[in-house]
Amino acid sequence: MKKLFDKTKINQMELKNRFVRSATWEGLANPDGSCSEKIADMMLELAKGQVGLIITSHAYVSQCGQGSIRQLGIYDDRLISSYKKMVEEVHKEGSKIVLQISHAGARALAQLKDSEPFGPSSLKIKDVMNCREITTSEILKMTEDFKMAAVKAKKAGFDGVQIHAAHGYLLNQFLSPFFNKRKDEYGGSIENRARLILEILQAIRSELGRQFTVLIKLNSDDFIEGGFTPEEMVQVAELLEVAGIDAVELSGGTSLKISNYSSSRVSESDSKEDEAYYGDAAKLYKEKISVPLILVGGIRSYELAKELVEKELVDYISLCRPLIREPDLIKRWQAGDIKKARCISCNGCFVPARAGEGLYCNPVARRSELQRMDSYEEKIKKYIKNNHIKAEHLSFKTSCHSVEEAVQTVNASIEDFVKNICLIDKKGNLIVAIVKGEDRVSTKKIGKVLGIERPRTANPQEILEKTGFICGGVPSFGYQATFLIDPKVMEKVAVYSGGGSEKSLIKISPQELLKANQGQVIKVKK
Ligand SMILES: Cc1cc2nc3c(=O)[nH]c(=O)nc-3n(C[C@H](O)[C@H](O)[C@H](O)COP(=O)(O)O)c2cc1C
Ligand code: SF4
Repeated sequence: MKKLFDKTKINQMELKNRFVRSATWEGLANPDGSCSEKIADMMLELAKGQVGLIITSHAYVSQCGQGSIRQLGIYDDRLISSYKKMVEEVHKEGSKIVLQISHAGARALAQLKDSEPFGPSSLKIKDVMNCREITTSEILKMTEDFKMAAVKAKKAGFDGVQIHAAHGYLLNQFLSPFFNKRKDEYGGSIENRARLILEILQAIRSELGRQFTVLIKLNSDDFIEGGFTPEEMVQVAELLEVAGIDAVELSGGTSLKISNYSSSRVSESDSKEDEAYYGDAAKLYKEKISVPLILVGGIRSYELAKELVEKELVDYISLCRPLIREPDLIKRWQAGDIKKARCISCNGCFVPARAGEGLYCNPVARRSELQRMDSYEEKIKKYIKNNHIKAEHLSFKTSCHSVEEAVQTVNASIEDFVKNICLIDKKGNLIVAIVKGEDRVSTKKIGKVLGIERPRTANPQEILEKTGFICGGVPSFGYQATFLIDPKVMEKVAVYSGGGSEKSLIKISPQELLKANQGQVIKVKK
């Protein structure tokens, strides 16, 4: 049986376990894109923490492809030496390291380079994207740039490269029918949309040979209407398998407003079932493809990681945010402390990186965003008072990020907590399922109860827009929605639910909860 701590090989690359650090932009590269000491120190810490394979942050293959501030670059030979020490130190710890190579395409910070960004097709969507169409000669140059980036990576001592074809960057834009409207051999059929990626792979292989490790990160789904789908992902993986890719890392989403899900989702629940959000796509992949599969996205529990590997649903477990919070997580798990990763998936770590301070775990940054929600505390208090609802509004000095933390704060049991799971129907209407703190909801069942097509989970932005409350602190009444209450909630004398911010909770009896929602309650479970 396959095990998490098996020694394995991808192409010629020998790995000491099945844990991968997924590519993570640190915002700490030198202004010219060369590798800084701070980044080298971070990679060394991960290697000491027993990560088998480290994938660096995305490194731009040409200057017009830079997508983030203080991002790594690999566009010029003079940058090679800056990476060497980092690679050597990681190797000394027995870990392997590959360079993620990327072009941001339409998402490039072109203003930094004084140029206009390009994508597969010209696209103008307000506040999302404004790009021109890439020309055929620029496409040929792109292949050359990716190839030369791989050559530089090899010279720097990296064990391989990972082609970044996910998260709405250039190669994902080519794959996605939403971005790619081309009429030539790079647009239309899936074979055409995958052509650039296949040409890049072939170019790297012809320059560096079959023994150089080449991985790819693919979206399993863009979560954009008219975008790349799991079915197309399998077709692309089949083409890549034939072309000789060494492993595929499956991810999904983009951080663009038009995506229903970002690639780094803010946690919606603590439940193990909500981890590994591309699990279904992984199953589709495994039915057809034999190239090793690396799965990323929301994996937090040791038990789940173990199950995914032992049941051969995936070959490698890839983690990003858990290793920002705990670079030594794998070492901890290996030593037998198999408690869940401490990362709460709040995305606070993006705040310092975007502000130019460099990446670090910073849930407080997220909390200070939440402080702005204080006026809603007042709104809730008023709502309770004006509607004569018998409920207590409790405020705390400390924030509660999870049901578990909230349980500790009020010294109650998890049974006494309710959480609001926000869903959206096809017309964009909000449906709120009020369930016990540890429970999930079946979207299929809810669709059936309401006589509608299966609703989907609302994203944090939609929750904010439709309720006026931030995701995670949504109170169980006081806004326009269809409320569904689990009868198990009704068995309790009193329950606690989210207030206007993560600093507050509301204690209310289920009967009052019914009243507060003006009889709009439908029982989900029998
Ligand atoms: C701060 C930050 C930077 C990231 N940078 C990259 C990147 O450079 N390349 C990439 O492919 N994904 C990047 N990602 C996405 C992660 O690799 C990963 O796919 C995503 O966060 C889901 O995994 P997780 O739930 O384990 O965090 C980044 C994510 C975060 C939080
Ligand atoms: S800031 Fe939040 S998401 Fe980022 S590593 Fe820390 S706990 Fe995880």
